[in-house]
Amino acid sequence: MTDFGAHIASVAYQRLAKPTLFRLDPERAHHATVTAARTLGVHPLLSRAAQAGIARSPTTGRSISVGGITVANRVGLAAGLDKDAVAVPAWQALGFGHLELGTVTAIPQPGNPKPRMARLPLSEALINRMGFNNQGTHALAQRLRKLRDRGEVRVPIGVSLGKSKVTPVDDAVEDYVVSVRAVAGLADYLAVNVSSPNTPGLRSLQDAEPLRELLQAVVAEAKSTPVWLKVAPDLTFGAIDDVLEVASEAGVAAIIATNTTLSRAGVAAEEAATAQQPGGLSGAPLHTRSVEVVRYITENSDFETIGVGGIRDRAGAQRFIDAGAALVQVYSGLVYRGPGLVAELADL
Ligand SMILES: Cc1cc2nc3c(=O)[nH]c(=O)nc-3n(C[C@H](O)[C@H](O)[C@H](O)COP(=O)(O)O)c2cc1C
Repeated sequence: MTDFGAHIASVAYQRLAKPTLFRLDPERAHHATVTAARTLGVHPLLSRAAQAGIARSPTTGRSISVGGITVANRVGLAAGLDKDAVAVPAWQALGFGHLELGTVTAIPQPGNPKPRMARLPLSEALINRMGFNNQGTHALAQRLRKLRDRGEVRVPIGVSLGKSKVTPVDDAVEDYVVSVRAVAGLADYLAVNVSSPNTPGLRSLQDAEPLRELLQAVVAEAKSTPVWLKVAPDLTFGAIDDVLEVASEAGVAAIIATNTTLSRAGVAAEEAATAQQPGGLSGAPLHTRSVEVVRYITENSDFETIGVGGIRDRAGAQRFIDAGAALVQVYSGLVYRGPGLVAELADL
């Protein structure tokens, strides 16, 4: 999108779309947004606009190589917004430099009972306990194959992989490996998600021994596709040291920091009661911790990092870059600030 296009998108979002969406239940608003993106993304007008350069991906004018992929700008779509890869053309038209699709699981699953997502508007935050609702890795693979066959993929695509809820933690390795096989040749990188707080036992896979076994198996099965690891913000620095050591030995190509937090620090006092519900907190209150984790990883390892957590403007993204992040990703900021945020960050 051009600067002018971004400005119009931003004003239209704040004045029209956001008030309407915020009157809906958060998950319905999410579905309405993804459905609109899906419809607009394949609309002939948008395709023509993209061809004419009106909605082209903004670029820094240089290409940036990170964790085995090459991107035209530093801002990516965070995992969880398009779990089933239904609106890829729209995310590309908004100007993202890369997309992380998923999290998908080997076995399709409905996720946790609704309601499972809440807004904390004063805090510019969300709480979710979706529990990896998704149509499964095979369905996502079919969509990606079609897009690739039609030549419609224009930016690097990561696929985030999680554990199916019905699979016991002890059998997690095989469950992830099934997913890796399903997306073979379709993803530019794979993201191993062991950091969502909403699947019972999942975060225990961040412990050194299970993590070693899991990462070695995924990296081996992924062959030449780079594997990234997404970590939780709630790990102690000591636990992060263990994760980094294991990830390095296994041949992980980059670390995404961070997923949502169980902490409720930084939530506005007026929203403290709403924030008591279970789930992972994202958005502004998470920002300081996520930046801190990126800085710690940069200072204590050779890993390239992707910073994610509470970016709502250019200054937030810059804070991650100053802390050592090579790329950033956004989710909650899109909900509160709208699609113009992507263009605002794209020339960093
Ligand atoms: C509703 C919702 C669903 C999410 N689902 C996933 C997911 O499936 N996989 C994942 O790795 N992260 C997921 N996340 C976490 C985001 O990718 C991101 O790490 C986190 O929200 C912090 O970024 P933000 O503050 O910009 O939202 C989800 C976040 C939200 C708000």
